[in-house]
Amino acid sequence: MIQTSIRARLISSFTAAILVPSLISAAVGVWMIDRQITSQAQSHVNADLQGANEICRNYLERLENAIRIHATRMIIYGALGRKDRGPLEPEMHNILQAERLDILTVTDADGTVFHRTRNPSLYGDRLAEDELIHRALRYKIPVSDIAILPQAELAKESAELASQAHMEITPTPMASRSGKTRETSGMMFRAAAPVLSPDGRLQGVLYGAVLINRNYEIVDKIRKVVFREVLYKGREVGTVTIFQDDVRIATNVLNADGTRAITTRASAEVADEVLRRGHTWRGRAFVVNDWYIAAYTPMKDIKDRTIGMLYVGTLERPYTDSLWRSLFIFLGMTVLGVAIVTWVAIVLAHRISLPIHAMAEAAGKVAEGDYAQRVDYSSPDEIGHLVERFNRMIQELARTTQELMDWAANLESKVEDRTSQVKAMQNQLLQAEKLAAIGKLAAGVAHEINNPLTGILTSGSLMLEDVPPDDPRHEELKIIVDETMRCRKIVKGLLDFARQTKPQKQAVSLNQVIADVVNLVGKQAAFRDIDIQMDLAADLPAVMADQDQMRQVVLNAVLNAAEAMHQGGELRFTSRHDSAGKTVEVSIADTGPGVPDDIKDKIFDPFFTTKKTGTGLGLAIAYGIVDRHGGTISIRSRPGHGTTVVFRIPVEAGGENEQLPQA
Ligand SMILES: Nc1ncnc2c1ncn2[C@@H]1O[C@H](COP(=O)(O)OP(=O)(O)OP(=O)(O)O)[C@@H](O)[C@H]1O
Ligand SMILES: [Mg+2]
Repeated sequence: MIQTSIRARLISSFTAAILVPSLISAAVGVWMIDRQITSQAQSHVNADLQGANEICRNYLERLENAIRIHATRMIIYGALGRKDRGPLEPEMHNILQAERLDILTVTDADGTVFHRTRNPSLYGDRLAEDELIHRALRYKIPVSDIAILPQAELAKESAELASQAHMEITPTPMASRSGKTRETSGMMFRAAAPVLSPDGRLQGVLYGAVLINRNYEIVDKIRKVVFREVLYKGREVGTVTIFQDDVRIATNVLNADGTRAITTRASAEVADEVLRRGHTWRGRAFVVNDWYIAAYTPMKDIKDRTIGMLYVGTLERPYTDSLWRSLFIFLGMTVLGVAIVTWVAIVLAHRISLPIHAMAEAAGKVAEGDYAQRVDYSSPDEIGHLVERFNRMIQELARTTQELMDWAANLESKVEDRTSQVKAMQNQLLQAEKLAAIGKLAAGVAHEINNPLTGILTSGSLMLEDVPPDDPRHEELKIIVDETMRCRKIVKGLLDFARQTKPQKQAVSLNQVIADVVNLVGKQAAFRDIDIQMDLAADLPAVMADQDQMRQVVLNAVLNAAEAMHQGGELRFTSRHDSAGKTVEVSIADTGPGVPDDIKDKIFDPFFTTKKTGTGLGLAIAYGIVDRHGGTISIRSRPGHGTTVVFRIPVEAGGENEQLPQA
């Protein structure tokens, strides 16, 4: 989930980072191109409009020239001078046809119609009020104009001309709401020239005109010249229309059925701007069935009144198509950019999220206690650095955890050690207290018994000397003396144990003490089957002790060992210097049957014995002596595996406890 979120965020930010500026630049680019194209199209249309105006002017000029030239013909001023219409008729007809005119009329110097070529039977009506005729007569110069002629004027020429001008207006939604439904008058390009006699007198006026309604010559010529008949997708790019007021009277805009789109009206907006205000209108215009970049300019009569409009328009489609093309190119580039960036973002996000995901997983496992986790990723960047630190952190965590565990285990064994030490000390204390109490009692008893025993022994001995050996009492007396001696020995032992004899301390080699004891007992019968082994330290320091008492301790242990090994065995003496404890340690080990567990803590008690003739004082005396020297004595034994008596004597005197048994 974390992985998708980081990845998704990276990808979306990257995509947004490219998408937003791309779209903005695409929008700005398209807007700029649109402006560029539109202004280009507008300037094109301006030029086109100029060209169109120029062609109209040319047309009028050509018409004016033709009329001017024909006006100089002798046949015209001759006929006027003679007032004879006869010869005029065929000639005028020729001119009408040659110049493709719709009206060709000759007036006299008053402006009264002298000859009407299309309708020769009708003459005599006055045209002097017509501004064009008026100017030609007055200024005696050729003039031309564009004018609207009412139906009556057209009808004078021919019914055909009137019907050519007649238009039933097609309703258009955008047109102004004037109630006009038909147009009966006609727009005419006209020219008039004075007819002068050779002597320069004004004879009349020659007047010719062309009806523009349903006459496509001019508009098609404009298109041909201005737009050069350029096609776009099979359609003419340029269109030209002449409006009479706001009605299309000549155009090359086609309806859907291919007919020319005349009789329709310009939009109210255009009509208002051009016809009412006399301005040129430029902009997009929907003409019949397509959008054009268009311009409408007013057409004025000789008195400068706006009577119609000249329209040129170029199909907008080529421009919009190129706009769309650039938009598609922009969008294509954006899509491509987004695709590339998204791909890069995916790769990058994968590279970033992979080690993070691995670290999260490893952290979870470490939390469960698995410190063997390592994230396998290396890279010289920050993430690589992070992974490396993370791995090191796990290692460190594993190490400290192990240390803590070791320490806890160590603490436990230390506590166990100390507890057993305290227990041993407690036991020793108990033993010491017990022995002190027994010693006190025994010392008292021994002291009291010692004197009477001396008396008994002295008396017994004297009596024994007096009784001859063959006397039957001799044997009994001997028993008395022996048993008394035994009692004295016990008493002496008791007094020894209870420290009645004070140690005479001097520097003593315990190795020497061992050697003395071995010498003393070695040759006795009890040691015949015993293999004596010495394992003595050569550099053993001397201890401050009573030598006799040290021999006593060793002897008592040796005697016990010999008694335990009456079948034979090995007796091993070991001595060593414990420099840390500043003591000399002596152990006397036998291979006898060992001490049963249940009597282990009793064997140092006075009078504890398992032997028929034993006093149970041997180890008690040894304990008393060692204790008075400030040392310790203990036994190590396993039933069936022999017994080892170990005692330690401090190297330097001073630690002894001489008060112990009496305490
Ligand atoms: N090396 C040993 N092997 C087996 N048991 C021993 C050994 N040393 C001592 N004991 C046991 O400890 C008891 C006490 O010994 P201790 O030397 O105090 O008295 P004893 O040997 O019995 O009598 P005494 O020393 O007066 O002859 C012995 O009776 C014996 O049971
Ligand atoms: Mg003994």
